[in-house]
Amino acid sequence: MTSYKSTLKSGTVIPAMMVAAGLLAAAGPNAIAKPRLETRDVQIAASPCNPCAARNPCAAKNPCAANNPCNPCGAKNPCNPCAAGGSVSSKCVVPRLQSASANPCAAKNPCNPCAAKNPCNPCAAGGGAPELTRAEAKAVYDCLVPALKSGYGKSGDRDAASYAGWKTYNNQPYISGTHGGRFVNNYANRKARAYGKFEKAGRMPPGAVLAKDSFTVNAKGRAGAGPFFLMEKMGGGFNKVSGDWKYTLVMPNGKIVGKTNGSGSANVKFCYECHMSVAGDQDSMMLMPDEFRKN
Ligand code: HEC
Repeated sequence: MTSYKSTLKSGTVIPAMMVAAGLLAAAGPNAIAKPRLETRDVQIAASPCNPCAARNPCAAKNPCAANNPCNPCGAKNPCNPCAAGGSVSSKCVVPRLQSASANPCAAKNPCNPCAAKNPCNPCAAGGGAPELTRAEAKAVYDCLVPALKSGYGKSGDRDAASYAGWKTYNNQPYISGTHGGRFVNNYANRKARAYGKFEKAGRMPPGAVLAKDSFTVNAKGRAGAGPFFLMEKMGGGFNKVSGDWKYTLVMPNGKIVGKTNGSGSANVKFCYECHMSVAGDQDSMMLMPDEFRKN
């Protein structure tokens, strides 16, 4: 297993790793903002996070082939931004992109055939997020929140129903290459309020819950709901391998893909396989890039 410490530019290393892991649909120059990830351990190449890593039967195959299970645009990956459930909103739009998309040669249009080549087709639905200004990202998120809340709430999960009332620790929705190349926000409940100390947060107490909602914006400026990501700190002995965190993944329509130690547990194993890379230093909390933090 290869592990190294260095400053990662999310626009380079993380997306490359995530394309291989099948979590990120597009890593074109237009697709990714530049979140900076501070010094931390990250597993690469031979990482168990990476279903396409060497020794995996998927490795040799074309990552973009239609029937390849490692295809980030394939239908079976629950983190697949192209998967069903990422409904496109008819009312939440980014006006600038709406008008730009009318012109196929517009410089910033990710569907511009003259743009840098993306092997995973940046024109595919949900493939890659366009860069938005802070105001655009906030406005489209505000519009979408009621739909996100009601969709996640259908899961019956208590936190999915209430997270939107918790404190948020990012100053604008930002693109997370590790959560499907979608725009995301991070929330923490009261027991997890030390999250706002970021690297100095220490270890979370049982009952601390961290939540991340997500959404997509397509090339035409239309926003759509993305999955909901939850981490709840459980008591000691819950699951040593997950650092005693319970991970839950909920689709935008409320369908629960998996919960650690619960139904679909295997489906969320990849969550802690990645998050555990910072188990020692940061109690598995990956934290967001500096420029998007607030507390
Ligand atoms: C390949 C690595 C990776 C995988 C896989 C992954 N995450 Fe994350 N996660 C991160 C990174 C990096 C951050 C912080 C930066 C960001 O938002 O992109 C983060 C942040 C989070 C946060 C906010 C709390 C924190 O750690 O700061 C939650 C909640 C979360 N992830 C849940 C999940 C769940 C649930 C899954 C699985 C369905 C998952 N993650 C899969 C890397 C990963």
